[in-house]
Amino acid sequence: MCGIVGAIAERDVVPILMEGLRRLEYRGYDSAGIAVVDANQKMIRLRRVGKVKALQDGLDENPVVGVIGISHTRWATHGEPNEVNAHPQSSGDHLSIVHNGIIENYLSLKQELLDAGYEFESETDTEVVAHRIDFHLQKNNDLLAAVRATVAELVGAYALVIVSSKFPDRLIAARCGTPVVLGLGEGENYVASDVAALLPVTRRFIFLEDGDVADITVASMKVLDSEGNNPDRPVRKSQLSENAMDKGQYSHFMLKEIHEQPEAVANTLAERVAGGHLLEQAFGHKAHEVFSKTRAVHIIACGTSYHAGLVARYQIEQICRLPCSVDIASEYRYRNAVVADNTLYVTISQSGETLDTLEALRAAKKKGYLAHLAICNVPESSLIRESDLVLMTRAGPEIGVASTKAFTTQLTALALLAIALGRGGALDADTEQKLIGQLMQLPDLLKQTLKLDEEIKELAKRFADKLHALFLGRGIQHPIAMEGALKLKEISYIHAEAYPAGELKHGPLALVDDDMPVVTVAPNNELLEKLKSNLQEVRARGGELFVFADPDAGFKSEPGVTVLTMPAHVEEMQAPIVYTLPLQLLSYYADVIKGTDIDKPRNLAKSVTVE
Ligand code: M6R
Repeated sequence: MCGIVGAIAERDVVPILMEGLRRLEYRGYDSAGIAVVDANQKMIRLRRVGKVKALQDGLDENPVVGVIGISHTRWATHGEPNEVNAHPQSSGDHLSIVHNGIIENYLSLKQELLDAGYEFESETDTEVVAHRIDFHLQKNNDLLAAVRATVAELVGAYALVIVSSKFPDRLIAARCGTPVVLGLGEGENYVASDVAALLPVTRRFIFLEDGDVADITVASMKVLDSEGNNPDRPVRKSQLSENAMDKGQYSHFMLKEIHEQPEAVANTLAERVAGGHLLEQAFGHKAHEVFSKTRAVHIIACGTSYHAGLVARYQIEQICRLPCSVDIASEYRYRNAVVADNTLYVTISQSGETLDTLEALRAAKKKGYLAHLAICNVPESSLIRESDLVLMTRAGPEIGVASTKAFTTQLTALALLAIALGRGGALDADTEQKLIGQLMQLPDLLKQTLKLDEEIKELAKRFADKLHALFLGRGIQHPIAMEGALKLKEISYIHAEAYPAGELKHGPLALVDDDMPVVTVAPNNELLEKLKSNLQEVRARGGELFVFADPDAGFKSEPGVTVLTMPAHVEEMQAPIVYTLPLQLLSYYADVIKGTDIDKPRNLAKSVTVE
């Protein structure tokens, strides 16, 4: 959601804080701010509505220099995105704090502070935390102790970093439910909400756990857990390269990430298969024991990751003959799900920090599942740390808010899971070898599909002025249609809905007229003829069809029907991944024409760490 950076050094930290913000901006971007303690031990704070660029312009006009400071890019939760609500929030003229997350009991804490004479200028829960720290400081004049006393009172989720001009030699950070990473430098130290912010200055990181509070000076990092003990928090080396965060030759991260999919899928398969067979240990050393006992699968995720789960359901039922249900994490949390014996619980998340998914996992742990498996793209994430089994997707950092390569690598990982689960029962060795072979062809098929780029760019011109669109798919392609609709609405703000093609006649057909584009994916599978009949229903009502079709599916372009022929016939195992690409490109190019902010669509954030 929001992004946090903090630094303490013997040089000016403002460039570190600003570069960190630029790297985190994709996470949230309605306002940004910075606070540093200057050479006269004065707290200087600058905040701007809008993107990090607006804050940089402000700094160019009013330069600020300091050896200790914090910065923040915000995605509003409490209070509208204006300068007063932007972070850092402060208490008096000495204390500044940045916060990710939501404090649920802020109103009761606020009342006590109002009674004690504190005045509030913002609508944020964060300002309450700032005053609360000051309130405790009045009693003991120890910043670390004041922060620990404050966090002990908080209910909710937070990543906090605090600086005070009365204590110009330390930053304090705290974590509960929202990530905080400490970066170790040479004669300087850092803190951030994501390693990506600190890659230009360090590769060595310590990840805080829930309840931890860290005391950071130029020379040391001290971590205390909620009991006040010094827990062992190992230093980990990040393998991420600094330029993984650059757009390179592409005009947007989204386009770069679409084009990275052949390699990302190849990386996700690499080392997980050998000699035509799946290496089960790729899921962890307990994998064999767990998979051989699994009798049902329950998948939980949000957004695009949820769509990946819906695709997996078809494969797990088909290949493994195991019952599989799929839930949206924010719904699952509050549903009293009945868990059959030996059910494997699977979470899917690009970031591994989506709060709804994490809380769903925590709730599931009380329900007696066989084991908890995570499919995730971020090795250091909370989801990975809290799961028994993991399969990392190897998409590399995904910066565009719209998930692209994260989705297709999730589908790849889930196909491997279906094979792993099928192996003990319904799946024989020959079929396993055949399916693995089909997965190994994917990188090449994806490369061929990306050659449709120019054709789809042309097609998108007929979309950009539309207000609505329908996406249709049948069977395993229905979740792909759902993903296509999500991509279109999220980045081009065109209202788009997806339906199973057979469901159209039960209501949505009423929406179809000559101003309603209807997009469909049509691989040559056993449902093709059914799909064709459904498309006739659309044509009969004047709806304009856009069909991404298998070369042998028998579609022809004609007035009202535009057929874009896919480069090759693909198998059932390959089709969801391959047919996703044209839908991603369609949304991307429609958006380029509309001129919206593709990598940072309005109102959204990359990693949703609030409920
Ligand atoms: O990081 P996650 O995969 O858990 O994120 C879940 C959703 O917020 C995410 O997939 C979202 O729907 C996409 N950014 C949409 O493109």
